[in-house]
Amino acid sequence: MKNVFITGGAGYIGSHCAISLFKNGYNPIILDNFSNSRSSVIKNLEIITDKKITFYDVDIRDKKKLISIFKKISCYAVIHCAGLKSVAESIRRPIDYFDNNIGSTLSLLECMRKSNVFKLIFSSSATVYDNNQLLPLKETNKTGNIKNPYGNTKYIIERILMDLVKSDYRWSIRIARYFNPISNHSSGLIKENPKGIPNNLIPCIIKVAQKKLPILKVFGKNYKTKDGTGVRDYIHVMDLADGHVAMIKNNRLKKGLKIYNFGTGKGSSVLEVIRSFEKHTGILISFKFTKRRTGDVAESFCSANKAIKELNWKYRYDLKQAMIDIKKIL
Ligand code: NAD
Ligand code: UD1
Repeated sequence: MKNVFITGGAGYIGSHCAISLFKNGYNPIILDNFSNSRSSVIKNLEIITDKKITFYDVDIRDKKKLISIFKKISCYAVIHCAGLKSVAESIRRPIDYFDNNIGSTLSLLECMRKSNVFKLIFSSSATVYDNNQLLPLKETNKTGNIKNPYGNTKYIIERILMDLVKSDYRWSIRIARYFNPISNHSSGLIKENPKGIPNNLIPCIIKVAQKKLPILKVFGKNYKTKDGTGVRDYIHVMDLADGHVAMIKNNRLKKGLKIYNFGTGKGSSVLEVIRSFEKHTGILISFKFTKRRTGDVAESFCSANKAIKELNWKYRYDLKQAMIDIKKIL
């Protein structure tokens, strides 16, 4: 069984990747400092997969500790999910974001090179695209012109990786640009569980449903969209996790760098998401319209045709299934 290291593997996306890896005959090795996750995730992953999970409590900026793990366990490829991810927090604490996101990537790349491991999948984001472009967004669209430190860390890391493959032909790098990951494994045992106050739509809806937030603020009602509210491309996290395995499996991580969008290609508005949540969970969400959130675009969705064609991947779960699975964690 090939070992695949997942940095940030106890987090939301990394933990779902671990399930998908097991399902496809790979052995996930989790590396996480638990800054935004809980160790109970490991236990729950063991229940879901009925397998023993190997994990290391490590800050991947700690090169000495990281390289000792690479020495101990043979590694086929790395899925690099570790990072801080709140746009609002990154505006307040830009240095922490540059230090953690870029610092951890540089440390990882150095330890991988020293350990002769050259296969890497990087968790990037739709946020790297320049906003003023025709939709759907394709991998060839313009990037940059980003307005917040979080997005800039993703953009800068992408540039670092592009320069790296030019300088050293041994690397196989895949950049996965996630659109809007939502929902959870159908067991309901693992989920998006940020330690601070959530900013994203679904975690906020869940907090309102659980009466931990009094009301959902809908940011803007006069965008030029189907109903005036923001439109996004929501992708079930299990489809996204399968996308990572497809990158490892279907083109065997051939050398060079490739970029893939992961989304459904369909846009849903905030009001559609609220209605779908209400319909499939049976819980009503009280909301009020407030002013637009700084930095938001009216509409964003992608073309995932490249992943569909080259990786033999396609999304399987729609918004309805995403809500049915969310019901399990309420
Ligand atoms: P998450 O916070 O749930 O998971 C990230 C994990 O990384 C956490 O468990 C955290 O403890 C760990 N971590 C952070 N810094 C670390 C370090 N220096 N060393 C070791 N572990 C560290 O976030 P997520 O939603 O799973 O996101 C995973 C990746 O995907 C992130 O890089 C994020 O920026 C990117 N991404 C997420 C989304 C989204 O909507 N969730 C969208 C686009 C991109
Ligand atoms: C946000 C980030 C983006 C990041 C992504 C994943 C901003 C400006 N963008 O994207 O950089 O990569 O999360 O972490 O923060 N909404 C509400 N009320 C809420 C929350 C959200 O109406 O309480 C609306 C938003 O205006 C948007 C939609 O819901 O139209 C989705 O928002 P969100 O889940 O935060 O994702 P993005 O804005 O796409």
